[in-house]
Amino acid sequence: MNTRDLLIASTVAGLSDELVALADVRVTSVASLDHMSAMLDSRQFYAVYIDYDDNTPGSLWSSILHANRHGITVLMGLSPSIQRIQHDLHDAGIMICPVSDAPGIARWIAVQLGLRGGTRSGSPVIAVAGAKGGIGKTLTTSLLAEGLTRRGVRVLVIDGDLSNSGIVPMFRIPADAPSYLDHASDAIACGVAPAWDAVQLRRLIFSHPSGIDFLIGADGTADARDLQRIEWLSLIQAVRGLDEYGVILIDTGPEIKKRPYAILTARDGGWVVVPAPPGRKERTGVAHLLHVMQRGVPAHDLSARCLLVLMEPERGAAITTEHIAPLFQQQFPATRVIGRLPRAVRQISTADEQADRYLSPLDIDPGSMLVQATHQMVERLCIAIGLSPPLPMPRHRWWMRWRRIASRPEWGSVAQQRATTRSHTAAADQSRAGA
Ligand SMILES: Nc1ncnc2c1ncn2[C@@H]1O[C@H](COP(=O)(O)OP(=O)(O)OP(=O)(O)O)[C@@H](O)[C@H]1O
Ligand SMILES: [Mg+2]
Repeated sequence: MNTRDLLIASTVAGLSDELVALADVRVTSVASLDHMSAMLDSRQFYAVYIDYDDNTPGSLWSSILHANRHGITVLMGLSPSIQRIQHDLHDAGIMICPVSDAPGIARWIAVQLGLRGGTRSGSPVIAVAGAKGGIGKTLTTSLLAEGLTRRGVRVLVIDGDLSNSGIVPMFRIPADAPSYLDHASDAIACGVAPAWDAVQLRRLIFSHPSGIDFLIGADGTADARDLQRIEWLSLIQAVRGLDEYGVILIDTGPEIKKRPYAILTARDGGWVVVPAPPGRKERTGVAHLLHVMQRGVPAHDLSARCLLVLMEPERGAAITTEHIAPLFQQQFPATRVIGRLPRAVRQISTADEQADRYLSPLDIDPGSMLVQATHQMVERLCIAIGLSPPLPMPRHRWWMRWRRIASRPEWGSVAQQRATTRSHTAAADQSRAGA
């Protein structure tokens, strides 16, 4: 099968020319879905793209099934009929293009099919995800955001956990901060698709004292509103167009079927960071997500877009990250490990329990293992996604680390420690002199 042979049924003027120029593909255009089916029987194509609308979902589905029978990837554009069945299409693993201009669609098709010209413009998008609750997604998002900010990278965090935000309580986001869901609901209530232009988006962004910017969705667990997947994709598309951000991070919830934001991110040329604790239930959740990623899009193993962060378990756990790292590597060879986060219960809960303000765990104990692990994780993330931060990796001075160790109760104070060392040395000298 020639990977450059595409069949399109589109009403968008100039799309074929854009595709040919961008991705060096051979494009056959048809003007009806019947004609498309006839072409599929006559020649082997690599993929089809449809935004043609004859107002009959039945004929759309039969074209899709026809293409599937030939093992051909199907991509869809936006049209009223397609919009009406978008959920079923997503559930069937069919991607819908969130933009409607010819250059934008051509770029999107090239990204989906891994063609030349398919490199995304705009900031890299990284979703932090896992098919299980409470594995450290929000913590990892916050540490990446803090670590990248300290490297001079401007970060926008999108709260994608619309069922139970972890970002809002962690960063003490005030209740009156703007919400992208409010904005979307207003548009949907008026019967129109939400439009996300740069000016509106910037108005919805909450600038946090930490220097990190946020796009917040729901502020509480009782908020039943949601975004349709195509609305989510067009939100992300618009956010990528904001040129002030070096990285866009998405904190996702555990329900990867209801809101498959991580999968959509990877399909759209972004990255997925997966916190991987070693416990049996947790690693089953990680494996579930990675299996979904492996099956991603036909002919594309999306697990290659997945970056694992090994999460240390509680002390005394029967299985450690050393045990599971080779297992993951064996089962999902395309994934990469970008870090290992130590368990830092005291540091994280001290930050969490601040009465009146947000405090990053990185500022509680700057010499700690957690801080070093965060900087290393950020460094490896930057290498993996090809990002060059303006500032170097903060190196920890030996005396700060010493001061931290020396301040542990079991070690006593530094002065006490030195006095003990001096008296031991003196005693040893005396006994040597005596001998
Ligand atoms: N390395 C760690 N050291 C100490 N505590 C941790 C660590 N990782 C996670 N935790 C704690 O575990 C709890 C769950 O973490 P977090 O909220 O980040 O998980 P989550 O995957 O985002 O959960 P949810 O699916 O509910 O959104 C939090 O209280 C967090 O502080
Ligand atoms: Mg969370």
